[in-house]
Amino acid sequence: MSGKNVTEVVQANASGVVRAAKVLSEGGLVAVPTETVYGLAARADSDAAVARIYEAKGRPSFNPLIVHVRDAGHAQDYVEWSEAANAAAERFWPGPLTMVLPRRPGAPMADAVTAGLPTLAVRVPAHPVMQKLLEAVDFPIAAPSANVSGFISPTTVAHVMVSLDGRIDMVLDGGPTSAGLESSIFALEADGAWEELRPGPLDRAALDAEVAEPRRSRSNPAVRAPGQLASHYAPGKPVRLDASPRVAGEVAQDEFFIGFGSVGGDCTLSASGDLKEAAARLYDCLHQGAASDKPRIAVAPVPMEGVGRAINDRLRRAATPPD
Ligand code: TXA
Ligand code: MG
Repeated sequence: MSGKNVTEVVQANASGVVRAAKVLSEGGLVAVPTETVYGLAARADSDAAVARIYEAKGRPSFNPLIVHVRDAGHAQDYVEWSEAANAAAERFWPGPLTMVLPRRPGAPMADAVTAGLPTLAVRVPAHPVMQKLLEAVDFPIAAPSANVSGFISPTTVAHVMVSLDGRIDMVLDGGPTSAGLESSIFALEADGAWEELRPGPLDRAALDAEVAEPRRSRSNPAVRAPGQLASHYAPGKPVRLDASPRVAGEVAQDEFFIGFGSVGGDCTLSASGDLKEAAARLYDCLHQGAASDKPRIAVAPVPMEGVGRAINDRLRRAATPPD
């Protein structure tokens, strides 16, 4: 399938899922909707298929992938299971929780998926299309976000096509994604505590309250997500944060303004100040800013509460220029 330069957009109905399953089983690449962002899927047990993900995204080989499985039972085929993992899975799967757990020796998994780490990131997605796809195949699915490495993540098919048209075999169109931000990533440490590697739709406070002891230290995690680079989600032009147009003269005419709450703009994350809505709209506003003829982007302040932590994490990286 390599060398093919037409990307087919297929409705995510029953026959679309069957076709996507066939492309994946033959080692192809399919962009698929999840409840967080669109993922770029390949069969995780094939070295050649996984290599195509890295090639299509231009992703550095040190950055491991998340593996998606049907349910917690299947996760146990690939990672060392424990009471802590089970408690989190029972409460938050399917859903936007990725767990980094010790890799199970001998489990059939392409080496490039883990980029040489002794751990594996696993997730059971909640999106019905992704669930049907996982039921239709007999292998786990590796899927990073379906964008060129370092660029804005995709929450619609149009966003996927901006980055990957002609570089992948198929896109399954399931409409806009609901959560809008990548899954929360938590690593289970040797002492049984959860370390937050990437904030996301699942609030750290919810995990602490429901399944885990609060972390002793968050400042110096033993485990890191190698892909959490300072510059990421970048729209290709300067981004200025915490901008307020109510301060006279502060928002320049050449800025594409992304508003929040009472602070309006060229695009608004949430006019009512709803953080979940803001998370769902963030990448679309950044895509609009990237496509606009204005040379710079400015973003209103977003509160650091709940999913606002994850929104601010993404904005900070979008505002950091690439090396
Ligand atoms: O919501 C999501 O998680 C989406 C959808 C498609 O599932 N996927 C996604 O994948 O965001 P990606 O590749 O854009 O981000 C995966 C992150 C990277 O920062 C990577 O470094 C980290 O997960 N990661 C993967 N395996 C890891 C491991 N074994 N240890 C630590 N971090 C890991
Ligand atoms: Mg990504």
